[in-house]
Amino acid sequence: MNQDELKKAAAFAALEEIRAIMPGAVIGVGTGSTVNHFIDALAASRLPLQGAVPSSEASGRRLAAHGIPLVSLDEIGAGFLPFYVDGADEIDPSFNMIKGGGGALTREKIIAATARRFICICDASKKVATLGRFPLPVEVIPMARVQVGHEIARFTGSIPCWREGFVTDNGNHILDIAGLAIDDPRALESELNQIAGVVTNGLFARRGADVLLLATASGIERSERQG
Ligand code: A5P
Repeated sequence: MNQDELKKAAAFAALEEIRAIMPGAVIGVGTGSTVNHFIDALAASRLPLQGAVPSSEASGRRLAAHGIPLVSLDEIGAGFLPFYVDGADEIDPSFNMIKGGGGALTREKIIAATARRFICICDASKKVATLGRFPLPVEVIPMARVQVGHEIARFTGSIPCWREGFVTDNGNHILDIAGLAIDDPRALESELNQIAGVVTNGLFARRGADVLLLATASGIERSERQG
């Protein structure tokens, strides 16, 4: 199987994972090529959902094109989404992740925080021993981009790269930090968020995944976060 076929297999596995969902439930839906397969499978499944909260305008458009109603977090109120299904750019053995390769990290983090269960769907290339080979995205307020870049360079020793020409769904910019070997993802996630002008960063350690559906050449490996 090629990488896209593996992504598709992971997406179908997620559908099985949520199949017992209560009629009328709303789920969170992430962003990316793996999630696109999930959205297509979800539409074909005819699960009795009320709708979905998308983590990006692109996913919202794809859901809507399939006739799946879009629901805002305001409509969820103080409740929880039963599931949030999303991909990752890297995931480590403790289910910490780097996300945001598609630039949707902030909305992804917001929706993940409101979900009881984060189901991560990936092909096997995303599983790593230590996070950081994939450049860590940081969403910044545009007026603070240069200052934040200097601060990140001082703090991490790595000069971040501006994703020039890219604007997030929130109207912000992205800095990508390459060359990290992240020994303590929770600490780095918190420390980067303390820099004035940072909206959020793509480390999902304080709220990592609960279930990993990893598509490998020999089939789907399902695992749950321990502890
Ligand atoms: C989107 O901003 C990201 O967090 C995606 O979840 C991540 O980039 C995975 O994307 P693919 O499924 O396209 O690999």
